[in-house]
Amino acid sequence: MAHVLVINSSISGDKGQSTQLSQQFLASLPAGFSTETLDLVQDSYPHLTMTEMAAWMTPESDRSDEQKALAALSDQAVAQIKKADAIVIGVPMYNFGIPSQLKAYFDRLARAGVTFKYTESGPVGLLQDKPVFIFATRGGLYQGTALDSQTPFLNTILNFMGLKDLNFIYAEGLNMGPESAEKALSAAKARIAELAPAVAA
Ligand SMILES: Cc1cc2nc3c(=O)[nH]c(=O)nc-3n(C[C@H](O)[C@H](O)[C@H](O)COP(=O)(O)O)c2cc1C
Repeated sequence: MAHVLVINSSISGDKGQSTQLSQQFLASLPAGFSTETLDLVQDSYPHLTMTEMAAWMTPESDRSDEQKALAALSDQAVAQIKKADAIVIGVPMYNFGIPSQLKAYFDRLARAGVTFKYTESGPVGLLQDKPVFIFATRGGLYQGTALDSQTPFLNTILNFMGLKDLNFIYAEGLNMGPESAEKALSAAKARIAELAPAVAA
């Protein structure tokens, strides 16, 4: 059975527009998927510290109990993403960037020798490529402009770890009046109806 990892990062939880779109996407998948959902706000990662990175770099057999607990945060995040056949990410725009909870999660995934490696010809991603569906919700309109810092960042960090099959689904102008919000959400729902049935189970 194919497995989908859902990563939500809205501070509004289940009421978040990005969470609701990612849930609609899941509901539109053909039968035969198992799912695992991470709520990065409810179960948030602390900011990354050098103490935690040192735990990753200490050989497993030499780790103290504290280091074992610290390394487990990243080990578990990496295992979850490796296990998935497809990934769904809900990403609201907060203060022109991604939610800091999502950044803290990426800080656990990007690990030299684990999810990427440096070679003479540059960095190489070590995650097996798989489809990623990104639900980007915004109060204003940014897509295709220099103010959209989210799309380039998500392209860079996910490509860096080997994830290249990225599908962005935008719902923009959500805080620009009911008509604008309705138009954006129905366009996102139309994209869901197009994309979800084609995901291979
Ligand atoms: C703290 C905060 C900061 C925000 N900053 C921006 C912003 O910089 N640009 C923007 O277009 N919308 C901004 N918004 C609006 C959200 O992007 C918009 O409401 C979106 O639907 C939130 O997604 P969510 O419902 O999944 O959390 C902000 C909202 C909050 C709560």
